[in-house]
Amino acid sequence: MSRLTVNERPVEFDMDPQTPLLFALRDAANLTGTKYGCGVGDCGACTVMIDGAALRSCLITLAECEGRFVVTIEGLSQDRSHPVQQALVAEQAIQCGFCTPGIVISAAALLARNASPSEQDIAQAIPNLCRCGIYPRLMRAVQRAAAITRREDTISAAPAPGITHEDAGRAVPAMAPQPFPTKTQGTNP
Ligand code: FES
Ligand code: FES
Repeated sequence: MSRLTVNERPVEFDMDPQTPLLFALRDAANLTGTKYGCGVGDCGACTVMIDGAALRSCLITLAECEGRFVVTIEGLSQDRSHPVQQALVAEQAIQCGFCTPGIVISAAALLARNASPSEQDIAQAIPNLCRCGIYPRLMRAVQRAAAITRREDTISAAPAPGITHEDAGRAVPAMAPQPFPTKTQGTNP
């Protein structure tokens, strides 16, 4: 049994402690916003925040997460109001969106520790791969998100998703605001 806090809720994973956190989040906790890309630490699609640091969940076991605080894209903000999310939409830095959750988490972790990052800081903190090639727009978006964080810029709220949390939860259980599993089981893929 591995005990950790996921998106501010205590969770017990009744799984092999050597299971990668990525599989526990996706297959047992149904938090499928965290993506499975390469599985070997190269792409960054699986990035989550662990104790405030952006880390690759495909490389970290449940045992290594014992007692730690994990934030996934579902827990960053339910209404997409985080400055990074606002800026990515405003700068049209999203195409297919597969890489987006990992990029948002990496950028959010960067801005939490440095609200005035240089281009080099951004490139180092967000090495995530994007097959759609959004990199120039991503750089602008993160700089804009930094300005929002410093209260030097504002962005109008993103348009409403046109679906309630309850309806989204019926279609995609991970989107449901409640209930969240406090004890969950799963099998390795
Ligand atoms: Fe983890 Fe690619 S899936 S880095
Ligand atoms: Fe398609 Fe990045 S937006 S992989």
